[in-house]
Amino acid sequence: MRIDVVTLFPEFIAALLGCGVTGRGAVRGLIEVACWNPRDYTHDRHQTVDDRPYGGGPGMLMKVQPLRDAIDAARAASPQRARSIYLSPQGRRLDQAGVRELAREPALLLVCGRYEGIDERLIEAEIDEEWSIGDYVLSGGELAAAVIIDAVARLAPGVLGNAASAEQDSFADGLLDCPHYTRPEAIDGRQVPGVLLSGDHAAIARWRLKQALGRTWLRRPELLAGVGLDAQRRALLDE
Ligand code: ADE
Repeated sequence: MRIDVVTLFPEFIAALLGCGVTGRGAVRGLIEVACWNPRDYTHDRHQTVDDRPYGGGPGMLMKVQPLRDAIDAARAASPQRARSIYLSPQGRRLDQAGVRELAREPALLLVCGRYEGIDERLIEAEIDEEWSIGDYVLSGGELAAAVIIDAVARLAPGVLGNAASAEQDSFADGLLDCPHYTRPEAIDGRQVPGVLLSGDHAAIARWRLKQALGRTWLRRPELLAGVGLDAQRRALLDE
């Protein structure tokens, strides 16, 4: 998958690509990420990337010409026509279903705003969709872009070491994840649940599903409305 990012702060994205499975995925060429900095497309001595809003008021907007040129350069470099996304709190809220949808795209173009945002006409002309990572305001779109890259990249074939890992994720089946345990068997007298030591794979799967259902019911009951258990999971609970 190819992801182009238009950002005044490519360091944010570089930091993500230096770490963990996303970083290894980038190194191995499983995801290809390129950043395009509007500052590189300025023509004035001060490399100006902000401009005043029409109508006045506090704050600045991103200057149109460098932003537009950076978007054009990103588009020209992408082998496929990328689905273009502007990160903003006004956008569609990201969830795991959205991540799966974006992960199916061959190419994404993520545009990160700074200051008070970008000119609405650029959104109309250049952007397919606005997406938000939650109902709070960040000081720019970079963290949101990093969240999307990370979540999408780990679904790309080969990025996670074990293909089953993504299928076992929280939300993969619409439920929260079950608890997990590693060595030692006791921590300050707290024992690992015995079933996990039993070697009985069906019993372990049943226990995990019940834990996931119970946690979802207690912590995020609204998620259960969208959950249908497949035949395999229903049979497991019936056993
Ligand atoms: N930019 C600023 N806040 C944001 C948010 N919540 N989601 C996506 N992009 C943003």
